[in-house]
Amino acid sequence: MIAFDWLQRARAEGFAIGAFNVGNLETFKAIVQAAANKKSPIIIESSPGETHWMGASNIADIGKNFSKEYGIPIIVNLDHSETPEDCMAAIEAGYGLVHFDGSKFSYEENVKIAKQVVEAAHSKGIIVEGEIDRIVGAGSEVHKEMYTVEQIRSGYTDPKKARKFIEETGVDVFAAFFGNIHGTVPPGGQPPLDIALLQKVKEIAGTFLSLHGGSGIDESDIKLAIEMGGINKVNVNTDLRVAFRASLEKTLKDNPDTVALYKIFPPVIKSVQQVVERWIDICGSANKV
Ligand code: G3H
Ligand code: ZN
Repeated sequence: MIAFDWLQRARAEGFAIGAFNVGNLETFKAIVQAAANKKSPIIIESSPGETHWMGASNIADIGKNFSKEYGIPIIVNLDHSETPEDCMAAIEAGYGLVHFDGSKFSYEENVKIAKQVVEAAHSKGIIVEGEIDRIVGAGSEVHKEMYTVEQIRSGYTDPKKARKFIEETGVDVFAAFFGNIHGTVPPGGQPPLDIALLQKVKEIAGTFLSLHGGSGIDESDIKLAIEMGGINKVNVNTDLRVAFRASLEKTLKDNPDTVALYKIFPPVIKSVQQVVERWIDICGSANKV
């Protein structure tokens, strides 16, 4: 159970494993090259949109191929899945971790489906992440709107509710929310992480803990959440998307006549790789392989 073993080691040694979203081969290469450079374990994940775009079995197989080619452990995770069918398909495809995000469902419905996913996943040695909190905002985008602190606080994890959900479902990883939001917000819009709340969740949860919405959070806050609060998995997507697009625009502008994609993409891959390498340093997972 590679995912469980690596998260257990991360917890024991006080580091986190970066979980980076992929939506194409170039981003996949950038992440894997960064992990190989840093001798770091890595979680490669795909949201429902990214999974449907690339295909679950393609993502799982590319992960296996790259793991062999680069000699690094790659855990493939289904990120924010909202249907048991997609979770089962990812389990069949060879994902090592599936995140059932039932936060939009009633608590009872979330528990019911999460239990089904846990049962199916555990029977194949695969672990499951669960989520109960409805955090403000949409997905991994560059948000123009500012959320009020009250809006952000409204999605914070209630430690007792988290404990109840974990006991009733048997999830292995719990998505904790304590100031982290998806995507980036205008300057001044990202509140500091509530580390005291995270510590309360850590004391009661008894599972691995993930931090979603890594992009846009102050580096020192993330490090504190790992060291003090027991975050073992840090999800990042927007930072990679922004780097990819900016570098692609520059590369196309600088090379107006180049049409061979294998000549266009290397600098783009490099830009994304540098972002991932920075995040691996923040997570403290370098030289663990
Ligand atoms: O599940 C994916 C992550 O939570 C992405 O968050 O786009 O804010 O880095 P981010
Ligand atoms: Zn997320």
